[in-house]
Amino acid sequence: MCGIIGIVGRDGVSELLLEGLKRLEYRGYDSAGIATLVDGAIERRRAEGKLINLERRLAEAPLAGSIGIGHTRWATHGGPTEGNAHPHATDRVAVVHNGIIENYQALTAELTRKGHVFVTETDTEVVAHLITDYLQQGKAPVEACRLAFHRLEGAFALAILFAGEENLMVGTRRGTPLAVGYGDGAMYLASDAFAMAPLTNRLAYLEDGDWVVLTRNSAEIRAADDTPVERKIHVSNVSAALIGKAGHRHFMLKEIFEQPQVIGDTINAFVSASTGTIALPDLPFDPAKVPRLTIVACGTAYYVAMVAKYWFEQVARLPVEVDIGSEFRYRDTPFEKGGVAVFVSQSGETLDTLEALRHAKRAGQHIVSIVNVPESTIARESDRVLYTLAGPEIGVASTKAFTTQLTVMACLVLAFARARGTISHEREAELALALREVPARAAEVLRHDDAIQALASMVAESRDALYLGRGTAYPIALEGALKLKEISYIHAEGYAAGEMKHGPISLIDDGVPVIALAPSDALFEKVVSNIQEVAARSGRVLLISDADGVARLGGKVRWSIELPKVDPFVAPILHSLPVQLLAYHTAVAKGTDVDQPRNLAKSVTVE
Ligand code: AGP
Repeated sequence: MCGIIGIVGRDGVSELLLEGLKRLEYRGYDSAGIATLVDGAIERRRAEGKLINLERRLAEAPLAGSIGIGHTRWATHGGPTEGNAHPHATDRVAVVHNGIIENYQALTAELTRKGHVFVTETDTEVVAHLITDYLQQGKAPVEACRLAFHRLEGAFALAILFAGEENLMVGTRRGTPLAVGYGDGAMYLASDAFAMAPLTNRLAYLEDGDWVVLTRNSAEIRAADDTPVERKIHVSNVSAALIGKAGHRHFMLKEIFEQPQVIGDTINAFVSASTGTIALPDLPFDPAKVPRLTIVACGTAYYVAMVAKYWFEQVARLPVEVDIGSEFRYRDTPFEKGGVAVFVSQSGETLDTLEALRHAKRAGQHIVSIVNVPESTIARESDRVLYTLAGPEIGVASTKAFTTQLTVMACLVLAFARARGTISHEREAELALALREVPARAAEVLRHDDAIQALASMVAESRDALYLGRGTAYPIALEGALKLKEISYIHAEGYAAGEMKHGPISLIDDGVPVIALAPSDALFEKVVSNIQEVAARSGRVLLISDADGVARLGGKVRWSIELPKVDPFVAPILHSLPVQLLAYHTAVAKGTDVDQPRNLAKSVTVE
């Protein structure tokens, strides 16, 4: 996911832009650049790869100016080269862009016929030429932008600079977020609140189709039909401190260790401290009358959906269908009238999930989303949003967002179960208490950090790894495998433990570590058999269980990690922590870029 930042009215603007780009790095990128006005002329510095390369470029050839735009690019159209890095520019216009201009080929052909010369493979460059063409027709900059925006098709956020205009910047959003930051004698544009955190905490999120004209003292917002509009100015709670590493080596490790706190914060938002029972915001439907629930997400968030399926069906007796966003919207599934669709997304911008939401909405489903980023697109298009209070998650590998998503989902399950009369008041209070105890239990689990680090060197030498689990531990096995492969680049697969004998057991040899997630619940004895099948074929098993489970199986496995014994309902939340730590330490042992793994973005805003 690309990142945008624009600043109007700050001396030393290039340093501020670079700092802003550093706060956008977490989104994933493979090139970066900035443009400022120097004596009225557009000057650019761009570089392939990490920001350190752009920093070097700026040290060699500093950029002056008090107005500028910056961009981190995650390549879609055109390779990750310096030539394709934003900003793209003509001699009169510079532009940075997040999203896709779907009609760029037709516009490029039209403008080429008019004599415009294109020098990149990107879709973005056409915006600079289109606005320039209107300027050449004698239109003023704002009018040139207005006309150009109406010609563009696709999903995009743009920030635009004009030669000779030291006090003017224009931005727009269509399907891709863009926020206006209000400073004192300066104004800002950025993809999210984090990028502007040290500059301002007063933000207005543009609505779809909005565009904005900025000077250092003003922001004039217009709607898609060009009529002036007001957008609410929020005070963001994201401080620069929140997005530091707090002394940890990586954001991912910081975020793993924040989990006791943020799970607690999230529970406090949904469990009444006075009554000890679930207290959700009103839902725009009666859970007792919902015939079926659909839960859609991508990646790690999809494994939350899988856990939730077990929970809703067992505790709320509600049929649930789960799917990944990229498949769901093309399956043409028959929807039931009065159905509810839940969408889980840390960023609230994942396009596969967002388009699935729009698909379900068109089918008349009630839309609930579980999201971490306030005002994100998925949040804004939902009938009801249940926010995880994980705080900014910067590491590309999702950790605290995952466990707080599970926490919110558990609260939603209990709220449905109460409304549907499938749970007694006592059992609800029991499970709510089990949830309230998770933060303390999670802190206990994190004390295994050193022991898990010691195991990581073994995993780091492996070519493949297997994760096994049954019931709600099966999605956690899938999540553990995803964590390992996405940051250590080791091939890992998660499997339902009972499925091993149907094929994957042929993979077992002493070079393949098998991580078995097995709380001593009703399925434990079944998992014991599966583990024994693996161990009998010289499989090296790491058992993750509680005291009962380790006592029952500890002697038959190579390694074991003992977790606190908790109600099976909350076990999936706790079992996530050791697999996060194992992936983290394995990646560190392998020397990969833990916070920004190769090829990955924090949020994938393309299909
Ligand atoms: C998780 O570790 C991955 N980074 C990825 O699978 C992620 O969960 C997925 O892209 C969904 O992102 P979202 O939660 O922001 O929608």
